[in-house]
Amino acid sequence: MPSNPPNLRIAVVGLGFVGLPLSLSYWQAGADVLGAEIDPQLRAELSQALTHHLEADDGKPIRDILADALASGRYRLFASAAEATAQADATIVTVGIPHGPEGLDLGPLRAALVQVAKAAPRGHLILLRSTVPPGTTRKDLYDLLRSQGRTVGDDIFVAYCPERIAEGRAFREFREMPVIMGAFDAASEARARSVIEVVTRAGVTTSASVEAAELSKVIENVQRDVNIAIAQELARTCEAGGIDVFEVIRLANTHSRVHLLEPGPGVGGFCLPLALSYFLPFAQEHGVVTPTLLAARSTNAKVPPLLAERALAHARALAGNDQPRIAVFGLAMKDFSNDARLSPAVEVCQYLVEAGAEVRAVDPAVPTRFPFQGEDPAWAVSGAQALLLLTRQSGLEAWLEDLSPLQTMHRGALVVDARNWLKRGAEDLAALGLRYWKI
Ligand SMILES: NC(=O)c1ccc[n+]([C@@H]2O[C@H](COP(=O)([O-])OP(=O)(O)OC[C@H]3O[C@@H](n4cnc5c(N)ncnc54)[C@H](O)[C@@H]3O)[C@@H](O)[C@H]2O)c1
Repeated sequence: MPSNPPNLRIAVVGLGFVGLPLSLSYWQAGADVLGAEIDPQLRAELSQALTHHLEADDGKPIRDILADALASGRYRLFASAAEATAQADATIVTVGIPHGPEGLDLGPLRAALVQVAKAAPRGHLILLRSTVPPGTTRKDLYDLLRSQGRTVGDDIFVAYCPERIAEGRAFREFREMPVIMGAFDAASEARARSVIEVVTRAGVTTSASVEAAELSKVIENVQRDVNIAIAQELARTCEAGGIDVFEVIRLANTHSRVHLLEPGPGVGGFCLPLALSYFLPFAQEHGVVTPTLLAARSTNAKVPPLLAERALAHARALAGNDQPRIAVFGLAMKDFSNDARLSPAVEVCQYLVEAGAEVRAVDPAVPTRFPFQGEDPAWAVSGAQALLLLTRQSGLEAWLEDLSPLQTMHRGALVVDARNWLKRGAEDLAALGLRYWKI
């Protein structure tokens, strides 16, 4: 608890991967928090201090922080964004933008903004923190408020401050990650800065325009996608040349101006694979083509099928007339996460199932229950002709410290290591009669 708690009632709309730890960060800083979450099941779990998120602050798990917050009476849950906003001084919106067959669906975000805009009392600040296609804050919030007769910068304040945290490091990064912020007027900018600085101790850089702030967030995500594509192409090159790609990257990164990312099973989660869907409409609207960005996306999209095919070909060759059995360790969208949204590991499993393989996947951190998912690593590897080590999880890494349980795999089975899990994979697995392929 800070020595001088702010006299702030803050509504946070959307208590997902961002909104839950962000709202708790405001509570930790001494604010009164009104958290709005539309999903009844999620809200019911939160009210019982239940969450699957793997966040912790200084070693204290998010569940315990949530339990303390609820018990304090300063952290309340609401079903309705309007109800929370109506009782608060400021509202932070962290509603996501789902991606369906038709592309981005701004419907849920727009619906939330409509509720917040309608309920916002005089003097209220609306701070949008979702990642959005450039132009959204103006079209879907600023223009909406003006159409309701509100004067932004006078009786209501609006700003955009994109969220930059990485899942798993949220509490620390809310405090220590510098942020950018754009507003339509100086009064909104000042109000937003004071609310952001309740939690963020790192710098707040003001953008010359809201659209520049929106676009900068989108390109931050796009550049990670491109950097990972570089790592994937380097991985293929290293494999062909018989060199360890992780070693090449380790060496290159000793240069102070080089920061190569590592290859893996693909690019997952809601942020990076979809980043181009936020960027392209803006580029196309202005008649710009971006072949490099498109090529990078296509490189990354090809990785899950490549890994699946490699494992499948080996498993089929060993299985003969039997159904090939393939074990998968790690289903999350990235290492040490519980988030399986748009996870390349899940895509690998689905590809294998559709190709006729029996898939036995384990991931102790992922709460989603996929039909091919089980609990026990020993069950997964038993009799398998291939094992894919995809996204890392501490429980699975601990299980793999001693490789002898892999002896129950089919003789000559292939272990595909997508994240450099096994430091001495080739030697250790050869001793067990198994093959090893590190991407
Ligand atoms: N997850 C990350 O690590 C991360 C990092 C940086 C930025 N972002 C961005 O932050 C935003 C949120 O991402 P997320 O991962 O937390 O999404 P999420 O889906 O986990 O959370 C959003 C929550 O909003 C709720 N919601 C939707 N409409 C609502 C309404 N009208 N009222 C109340 N609640 C409502 C949903 O039920 C959901 O629980 C996205 O724009 C995302 O791109 C996410």
